[in-house]
Amino acid sequence: MSDIDLQKRAAGEAAAQLADSGMVVGLGTGSTAAWFVKALAARALDVTCVSTSLATETLARELGLKCAQLGETREIDLTVDGADEIGPGLALIKGGGAALLREKLVWEASKRCVVIADAAKVVPVLGAFALPIEVVAFGHRTTANRICDVLSEFEIGVAPRLRLKDGEPVRTDGGNLIYDAACKAIPEPAALAAALKSVTGVVDHGLFLDLAEQALVGGPAGVSTLEP
Ligand code: A5P
Repeated sequence: MSDIDLQKRAAGEAAAQLADSGMVVGLGTGSTAAWFVKALAARALDVTCVSTSLATETLARELGLKCAQLGETREIDLTVDGADEIGPGLALIKGGGAALLREKLVWEASKRCVVIADAAKVVPVLGAFALPIEVVAFGHRTTANRICDVLSEFEIGVAPRLRLKDGEPVRTDGGNLIYDAACKAIPEPAALAAALKSVTGVVDHGLFLDLAEQALVGGPAGVSTLEP
């Protein structure tokens, strides 16, 4: 296993220790979150899980975890999820796995959100990882032009690119499309988040601000804890 995978696994296993029987637990999406799901299942607690993607729900069910849909349970006690970047104040970029909308819905419905990652995800300024933006399919090229205008207002001179896989547009679990904006740097994440959200056709974006209460970051010397 690579050093990065070992760090992801260590962070996922540390986060699994935060769960207790009786909890409703939100399950993130991606390779780091998968380590959490495996470690949670290994603890054999009596928990009910709400997944942020069909892929995670499939994994959770295979591992014997009890699953429910968002809104079918009482409030979620704890959500654990990965991130593509962790910036100052635990501002995050998420959505590299195209699950950002369901992730944000679950995060916002949770009493406590913990982000888990390998050390390379911690950055001084967000934006080296291209910002995922989920848009409805109808008129998506027009929406992309409007996103471009918004980015220009923030002096980010980049055209968002439609995410493709095997030459075909990637569809999210909700049937939407993803545009990735290679911003390089996002000095004003809150203002950009609000501006992107105001574009008709944008469903959501991968900026997760003021949501993570704690980060558990795997590194060469073990798992460290970051607070906002
Ligand atoms: C899924 O849409 C993302 O938000 C993931 O949580 C993020 O891309 C991190 O993925 P990895 O843990 O695989 O790096």
